[in-house]
Amino acid sequence: MIKKVSVLGAGTMGNGIAHVFAQNNFKVNLVDVSQQQLDKAIDLINKNCARQISKGSISEEIKKQTLENITTFTSLAEGVKDCDLAIEAATENIELKLKIFKQLDEAALSDCILATNTSSISITKIASVTKRSQNVIGMHFMNPVPVMKLVEVINGFNTDKKITAEIIELSKQLGKVPCEVNDYPGFIANRILMPMINEAIYSLYEGVAGVEEIDTIMKLGMAHPMGPLQLADFIGLDVCYSILKVLHEGFGNPKYAACPLLTAMVNGNALGVKTGEGFYKYEKGNKNLIVSKRFIK
Ligand SMILES: NC(=O)c1ccc[n+]([C@@H]2O[C@H](COP(=O)([O-])OP(=O)(O)OC[C@H]3O[C@@H](n4cnc5c(N)ncnc54)[C@H](O)[C@@H]3O)[C@@H](O)[C@H]2O)c1
Repeated sequence: MIKKVSVLGAGTMGNGIAHVFAQNNFKVNLVDVSQQQLDKAIDLINKNCARQISKGSISEEIKKQTLENITTFTSLAEGVKDCDLAIEAATENIELKLKIFKQLDEAALSDCILATNTSSISITKIASVTKRSQNVIGMHFMNPVPVMKLVEVINGFNTDKKITAEIIELSKQLGKVPCEVNDYPGFIANRILMPMINEAIYSLYEGVAGVEEIDTIMKLGMAHPMGPLQLADFIGLDVCYSILKVLHEGFGNPKYAACPLLTAMVNGNALGVKTGEGFYKYEKGNKNLIVSKRFIK
């Protein structure tokens, strides 16, 4: 029975994962190498709870309980020593993840489940550095975690079916909808999403249509809440690029090669929302979508 959860990494995803578990009355140890990130995460959880109160979705009491359920740590060994489940949501870097899983394997209880929120790194590869590959699984939450219902549950090559069943049940307890998939490049979400984004970028690159036209066609024609170019800006063009690279290398199929325009934008540091410009321009305080000058004829 999972009661105590450690979340490693207190960035965008880690703070959301900690929030959702704590709100559902799990004890949460939130671990990060940076005290500043931990402070920022608690502040953000506080603000997000206040927003939930203003929308009437939670009470003051639940907010208080959520914050009380979270303890922060800068030491991994301290933060994971008594948990039933550790979810790694640290920076997407294979060397870093392998290092963390080696440490986790040594510091966590022998029956602790080790999960990763990776978007693109092989679960089986991550599990291979532990002595418990049957207990290692992917738990891929979507951003923003408190809002998005999906959890992609990814079986590594050696993941025990009992562990999968436990993680599926746990995801339901959080009010999420789990979907079980197997560990192949991009899993399902990114295997389908990234080629669509890449194709949208190719369409722009080849001059088939402009930024607004491409996004409007996909929004109004396919009922997508956001067009693929705007979504790419939100995800970060560097992240899209590196996931395409995983698909390209993993399948050895040129259909996954990044569009030259995407490569140019990544090299030019036009990464989307995080750098203030991608396909659109993002200005503080301006909520209107403004197409980047580069793409206006
Ligand atoms: N951002 C998204 O939309 C999204 C969606 C789904 C999955 N993911 C995946 O979630 C993971 C985290 O992504 P993010 O966007 O939250 O990243 P982020 O950069 O916002 O946060 C990463 C955090 O990890 C911390 N960290 C680095 N090394 C650490 C260590 N050794 N121990 C503990 N913490 C450490 C950093 O200090 C930082 O706070 C990645 O694997 C990413 O692929 C991201």
